Amino acid sequence: MTDLIDELEALEREGREAISGARDAAALEAARVRLLGRKDGRLTAILRRLGDLSPEERPRVGAAANRVKEVLTGLLEARAVEVEGGAAQAAGIDPTLPGRRPWRGARHPVTQVMDEIYAIFRSLGFTRARGPEAETDWYNFTALNTPLDHPAADMHDTFYLAPGVLLRSHTSPVQIRTMQAYRPPIRIIAPGMVYRRDPFDASHAPGFDQLEGLVVDEGVSLVDLKATLAEFARRLFGPEARVRFRPSFFPFTEPSAEVDVSCFLCGAKGCPACKGTGWMEIMGAGMVDPAVFEAVGYDPERYTGFAFGMGPGRIALQRYGIPDIRLLYESDVRFLEQFS
Ligand code: DAH
Repeated sequence: MTDLIDELEALEREGREAISGARDAAALEAARVRLLGRKDGRLTAILRRLGDLSPEERPRVGAAANRVKEVLTGLLEARAVEVEGGAAQAAGIDPTLPGRRPWRGARHPVTQVMDEIYAIFRSLGFTRARGPEAETDWYNFTALNTPLDHPAADMHDTFYLAPGVLLRSHTSPVQIRTMQAYRPPIRIIAPGMVYRRDPFDASHAPGFDQLEGLVVDEGVSLVDLKATLAEFARRLFGPEARVRFRPSFFPFTEPSAEVDVSCFLCGAKGCPACKGTGWMEIMGAGMVDPAVFEAVGYDPERYTGFAFGMGPGRIALQRYGIPDIRLLYESDVRFLEQFS
């Protein structure tokens, strides 16, 4: 019996040396198989001889064998971690650094608002139209009943690319292009970027999103405009949302209105977002001016229509409580990640 106890002690001693001497994972695995391998390992060989012992001796040797097995297993595990760390370090990797968070993509907040708006107008029978961002002053101003000496056409407000060519300052020229290309009935929305010579500050951006709407047919009236926008507001802002029209002026509509929606943040009670008024301005709108129909060769005696223009970026700012419009256009992933 003392033979076996001696052998176990020798196994432990040699095992400690072999394990601490193993330089890589393969050497460590070889040591494990030699020491503790189930079929031909040294410990297994010793355990096989337990049967030769008397029933009194067996438990003591068995307990000693278990202890050696535990000690060596623990050492093997600890050394495995060291060997792995060494390999990582040799490869220039610091295994103590925190792991990288998995990257989650997110749709841009303006895209999220745009997609909702598309879905609403699609269900109301609108299709989507597009126009170029570089426009002529005829499409951007003249055809929209805005003479070139109108303040809006001023060099100070518009980016001119060349004489008569500019970056569109609104999406309204898409109205003109659509009416030139199609006969009524027309029911379109036209999303896109627009550009103005504004400072880049918390409430202005030199490029931003707009979404235009245009409906032209026989017998279209102000009632259709109001019903369409009221339904739009309920779908986008919730069933309690109401709209109100305030008289305003745009050269391409007559009459014209600023359209407000009841504040969807405070339920129209009055809060900082709506400056205590209970209303938020969300778009301009009106009945298409007959001069615009004349510019595209539509008969203003036969056709009437309505138009509207909104800023999906502005709506995203209000909805998500974003304090600075620059956040929308700077592509900072730390900001954008929050919208996943
Ligand atoms: N184009 C106007 C702007 O940029 C917005 C607008 C107002 C569009 C009234 C319209 C409209 O179609 O009817 O401020």
